[in-house]
Amino acid sequence: MKVVTTIKELQTILGEYRSEGKTIGLVPTMGALHAGHASLVERSVRENDVTVVSIFLNPTQFNDKTDLEKYPRTLEADCELLTQVGATIAFAPSVSEVYPEPDTRQFSYPPTDSVMEGAFRPGHFNGVCQVVSKLFSYVNADRAYFGEKDFQQIAVIRRMVADLGFGVEIVPCPVIREESGLARSSRNTLLSEDERKLAANIYRIMKKSLDLYPAHSVAVVHDYVVREINEIEGLEVKYYSIVDGETLADVTSWDDAPHIVGCITVYCGAAPIRLIDHIKYKG
Ligand code: PAF
Repeated sequence: MKVVTTIKELQTILGEYRSEGKTIGLVPTMGALHAGHASLVERSVRENDVTVVSIFLNPTQFNDKTDLEKYPRTLEADCELLTQVGATIAFAPSVSEVYPEPDTRQFSYPPTDSVMEGAFRPGHFNGVCQVVSKLFSYVNADRAYFGEKDFQQIAVIRRMVADLGFGVEIVPCPVIREESGLARSSRNTLLSEDERKLAANIYRIMKKSLDLYPAHSVAVVHDYVVREINEIEGLEVKYYSIVDGETLADVTSWDDAPHIVGCITVYCGAAPIRLIDHIKYKG
């Protein structure tokens, strides 16, 4: 696997592959890779001739500077993992390579980017669109792979792809979970062993709420999840939103949309660490 740090070198190499008629898969990441990322890369390797994995801790999507500072940085281990799973190129540019000047572009795809994480982390999805649109331009991939763990992010990126006419196919990949049910996330490394055990309750309770669907109303299911999680010391629900799986608009009845998903953000532990997850109720 080749590690590339400049856009110029990346495009020279990809130009050669393209001229040989090779297909290109892109897996955008912020590093601190884990089994969830590995599954995206493995899928891209299966479905494309060439797989580019970007490793770039994008400052413009962090509205909270301490969150950015706390984010784990593990480039060496990341490259080892990418070699093992068969990636072709790790693209690890500097901030000044990606942002030679401040990015003033504004993206707005409501309600996908204005609700949930969009409401609690103003500017977050704007930063995601800034960097992902740049990566799409550099790589011109046939397919781009995103983990469904960031369910809202995929909905926003789909809107951006449709808006800007990118030819790339967005491939959503299932959440990879620890044995306890906790969704794999780079942030999990910031949890102590005890906090990890606590955090496993999030998915356990969301899964239990499936038993209430569809006999009980959306409001009852919502309140059940929030109450059960908040009863556990060390966990605090920031929001639980039960939404249309495509537009992400809130639903009030199970008949409101063909796909219905519950999306949650929970603060875990003393630091605290923000954890997100989701569960599909319908469709
Ligand atoms: O999901 C992530 O890790 C990031 O939001 C992404 C898509 C790599 C953009 O920085």
